[in-house]
Amino acid sequence: MNYIKVSDSYKRILKFLNEKCIENPANPKKTNNFDITFENVEFSYEDEDFKLKNVNFEIEENTLTALVGPSGSGKTTITNLLLRFWDPDEGKIKIGGVDIQEMDYDYLLSNLSVVMQNVILFADTIYNNIKIGDKNASKEEVIEAAKKAQIHEFIMTLPDGYDTMIGENGLGLSGGQKQRISIARAFLQNAPILILDEITSNVDPINESKIQNAISELAKNKTILVIAHHLNTIKNAENILVFDDGQIVQNGTHDDLIIKEGLYKTLWNVQSKSKEYTF
Ligand SMILES: Nc1ncnc2c1ncn2[C@@H]1O[C@H](COP(=O)(O)OP(=O)(O)O)[C@@H](O)[C@H]1O
Ligand SMILES: [Mg+2]
Repeated sequence: MNYIKVSDSYKRILKFLNEKCIENPANPKKTNNFDITFENVEFSYEDEDFKLKNVNFEIEENTLTALVGPSGSGKTTITNLLLRFWDPDEGKIKIGGVDIQEMDYDYLLSNLSVVMQNVILFADTIYNNIKIGDKNASKEEVIEAAKKAQIHEFIMTLPDGYDTMIGENGLGLSGGQKQRISIARAFLQNAPILILDEITSNVDPINESKIQNAISELAKNKTILVIAHHLNTIKNAENILVFDDGQIVQNGTHDDLIIKEGLYKTLWNVQSKSKEYTF
């Protein structure tokens, strides 16, 4: 390994360690309703021109909302704010009417399951990587979650099964296999809110269909926010929010949006014409 690489990661780790910790409120609040609202949210990252501007939306509990828009338009930033990786500069983010900053951070995280494009797995066994979803889960529950995520059969083909080490000095996994391990985690966690961020954009068609099947099972009776790459996967969303340069420029169902002149129709036409997805 070369010095520059090491010193670069070291700097990043230092930056991370120096970040302020999230302080829990003195009188933390809970919620038993999982609507999500963004109220006049404004946000920019340090040293970046990008800005989220006056973002307002409401997601009803147990519905599926899709975020679409060109790359760099701010979709993942919405996820980052919900997870409090950053806090908004202005405005409020609420779950069940409670400002997420008034909740204990662990409590907030326990209500959100996230499956992202770049899955982070630890240099540990497959078993422990799934169990992160619920520290108290039994072995049967871990296996059940893996079955639902359609990764159990693959795990059983490995000489060490669930005890196979993955990560740095262990077994390398394909993007789709990593995705399914993180879906197994989410099954185990069974949180009321599920966030899916471009989960099938880097996987082959076989993995994609396995992932789609697993997700439709996982998604039952949850509030879902899906950031979609392939627009044909979100045609059935109850609401679609169209982002452009940090703003919501359109919203509605697919049927509403497809008959209006606007960004959604443009993106849809681009995708229907070409097999190369450009966003
Ligand atoms: N961690 C970060 N630090 C600084 N800038 C970021 C960070 N993450 C994203 N950005 C910038 O914010 C803008 C929006 O990014 P993002 O929300 O990831 O877009 P999308 O998910 O729609 O592709 C981009 O210009 C991107 O470069
Ligand atoms: Mg993104």
